[in-house]
Amino acid sequence: MRDAEPVPVRLADYRPPAWLVDTVDLDVSLHPTATRVISRLALRRNPEGAADAPVVLDGDGLTLVRVALDGAPLAGGAYEATPQSLTLRAPTADRFVLEVETLVNPTANTRLMGLYRSSGNYCTQCEAEGFRRITYFPDRPDVLSVYTVRVEADRAEAPVLLSNGNLERNGPVADTGRHYTIWHDPWPKPAYLFALVGGNLSKVPDHFVTRSGRPIELGIYVEPGKESRASYAMDALKRSMRWDETAFGREYDLDVFNIVAVSDFNMGAMENKGLNIFNDKYVLASPETATDADYAGIESVIAHEYFHNWSGNRVTCRDWFQLCLKEGLTVFRDQEFSSDQRSRPVKRIADVRTLKAAQFTEDAGPLSHPVRPDTYREINNFYTATVYEKGAEVVRMLKTLLGEDGFRAGMDLYYDRHDGDAATIEDFLAAFAEATGRDLSHFALWYAQSGTPRVTATGAYDEAARSFRLDVRQETAPTSGQSEKKPVMLPLTLGLIGPDGADQPLTLGGSNMPHPVIEVTEAEQSFVFTGLDARPVLSLNRGFSAPINLSTNLSDEDLVFLAAHDADPFNRFDAMQGLALRLLKTGAAEGRLPDATPLVEAARRVLTDTTLDPAFKAQALALPGENEIAREIATDVNPDAVFTTRRALRAVLAEALAAPLGETYDALTTTSPYSPDAAAAGRRSLRNLALDYLTSGATSEAIARAQAQYGAADNMTDRFAALAVLSQHDTPARTEALADFYRRFVNDPLVIDKWLSLQAQIPEEGTLERVKALTLLPVFSMSNPNRVRSLVGAFAVGNPTQFHRASGEGHNFLVDVVLGLDATNPQVAARLLSAFKSFRQLEPARRASAERALQRVAVTPGLSADVADIAIRSLS
Ligand code: PHE
Ligand code: ZN
Repeated sequence: MRDAEPVPVRLADYRPPAWLVDTVDLDVSLHPTATRVISRLALRRNPEGAADAPVVLDGDGLTLVRVALDGAPLAGGAYEATPQSLTLRAPTADRFVLEVETLVNPTANTRLMGLYRSSGNYCTQCEAEGFRRITYFPDRPDVLSVYTVRVEADRAEAPVLLSNGNLERNGPVADTGRHYTIWHDPWPKPAYLFALVGGNLSKVPDHFVTRSGRPIELGIYVEPGKESRASYAMDALKRSMRWDETAFGREYDLDVFNIVAVSDFNMGAMENKGLNIFNDKYVLASPETATDADYAGIESVIAHEYFHNWSGNRVTCRDWFQLCLKEGLTVFRDQEFSSDQRSRPVKRIADVRTLKAAQFTEDAGPLSHPVRPDTYREINNFYTATVYEKGAEVVRMLKTLLGEDGFRAGMDLYYDRHDGDAATIEDFLAAFAEATGRDLSHFALWYAQSGTPRVTATGAYDEAARSFRLDVRQETAPTSGQSEKKPVMLPLTLGLIGPDGADQPLTLGGSNMPHPVIEVTEAEQSFVFTGLDARPVLSLNRGFSAPINLSTNLSDEDLVFLAAHDADPFNRFDAMQGLALRLLKTGAAEGRLPDATPLVEAARRVLTDTTLDPAFKAQALALPGENEIAREIATDVNPDAVFTTRRALRAVLAEALAAPLGETYDALTTTSPYSPDAAAAGRRSLRNLALDYLTSGATSEAIARAQAQYGAADNMTDRFAALAVLSQHDTPARTEALADFYRRFVNDPLVIDKWLSLQAQIPEEGTLERVKALTLLPVFSMSNPNRVRSLVGAFAVGNPTQFHRASGEGHNFLVDVVLGLDATNPQVAARLLSAFKSFRQLEPARRASAERALQRVAVTPGLSADVADIAIRSLS
């Protein structure tokens, strides 16, 4: 069924709910095509809501069986029911119990929202508005209820039956072959956190004792046979639980914590209270099947969902405009967790790469929106890099401004004051303002104003005055829906580095700076640092303290100096990237790469510096990706020129550094068994980066080395890295290795995803045909989001030369897939379509092709709200 024309929802129209639901008693009798749901809602008129408002419950595609009020069946005239809503006509008491019985068909649910089946198992997904696909309910996050859930199913079909909270009872249903469990969750929660699972699953058990001594039973449920692949996730869970106690003082609050891994899931994972449901990609790992990046992803998603127990569940969102309240904060928390578990600088570099690739691109195009949007047509389309990643950056800036202790005091106050509430961004900021006495009203603009500020910093040393003057200008370009922009508050961490490479003491306005942070609040501002005996080199926005596009008057020599000496590892990395970007921009514009000697020498120094962490080296030596280069160029981008220039620069580096690269590769070759820890992963990442450079000339010797690594690898990281290198060169070795990989892993869908995505990203003319052929393989399925993302998503986002082919065939292919998928899974279809988000930066012919493709979507009748919304906004 297709959706009707989407009506915009506005933050300004928010009104408190007219009716509250104190308790929800659900009785769910699972059946493949006719699951019966009986819900008993204790409704109470909200004294803060509109007086006399009738009871209106949300639905989505529901089949109503019966309605009863305080135990008495309601006659047809007393209510109005459609698949989309249930309205009580008659005036009612201010408090009553409504009983509603509905039927749903989980097998026919291809949207993967509400109750659906994955590999035969039953599971639910309710965020954002999926609960209304299970039963009629005021499906909004500011209605919080205590849930008691009875789940019943055929024992053979679903021996495991789970819901939120603690297990109260279970047993057989006499003479039926069926059984039931009853779960009770004492913590009031919004409907989007409801979950239920039924199926044939194996439990990986463990336990945890909280710091106050409460024992918690932990369980990770996976498909039988996959138990051993859940051990890393379990370890990550226990580390997350301990970390939230020590870093934020937050303990777990139920007797059980369960995680279920399912193979059909629209997103990464879901934080349902006490019953997280995960895309199995973020649970299952073994050395033979998962890469270091997969392990790191599991660690951070497990942590993310667990941390939501406080930032999201105990304190939830008043409405969906406040989504960043839980998501930005929880991303910040999971980033901090991973930083503490691994290398902080390397984690920060990786996070900023993600931020720039996903969020800066989004903010530079037609889908740009504020961290807290003020209007939406389809909330599913706002689970974006802006809400998540920029939302996390805003929290990070808050911490930079307030300091460690001020930030913690604000967090404590926020949790204490809003525990059990549905809160807003204003509530969040008020807690920090009150805890620290700081006025955050200007800072709050970060939530309302979209776009990435462009900051220009000009430094000048005055030898006579022994001072350094820093002029900072900021400007944010107009974005869709916002033509007027104001200056935002920028906390810029900085250092002034002396000729000896050491940070100089910072004296500003005559006094020493206790914290090396300047706060820029105006469009133009100057800072004069004094007491400097020699010309310093400016290191600004250390640690990427503000999410901005920064340009400076630093020379290439200054960048080379920073790459060698900056005490801030992030800015050492950034200086390398800056040098490379300057070359690549000029190279792409002029069709000829300028002299790369400064970059080569800086790279040589990084590569041969024995004091540096290999993981850091790998990040610093990896060239900016094609999409990042395109974003820097910003207008009239020709993806072929970007690609060619990047290839050329890679070859220059590879040739100049052949000897140290070869030595690095050999020195990092090890026979010790695989371990996913950060240090070992860092060594592999540098060795595999060296392999990539060494193979760039595709000499037979180099191809043979990659082949040897492929064949000898005892882990997926090294095997897949070798395959990735081979995939970039059109040789028989590629064909062989791809065939071998397929044979080895044909029964392992998560590994096949890697194989699909690698081939989708081959930057060659034949790739589109290859991708189309891959869609026909039995291992591929349009109904599984992971498969679709791995093949079609990787092609659209990770293969700019082929997706943006001048012929328009790449664009057309994506549109065909989107329109086909829209009928069954609009959420995934809409996400694929957002691959056009940067089309306006393309050169005119490709831009026109993308526009035609988007228009073809927009004029298609019967689009889902999800896809229609992306098409309309992309074209606006
Ligand atoms: N709330 C989930 C998270 O942890 C994301 C999600 C949104 C999952 C909607 C499913 C549906 O970020
Ligand atoms: Zn989240």
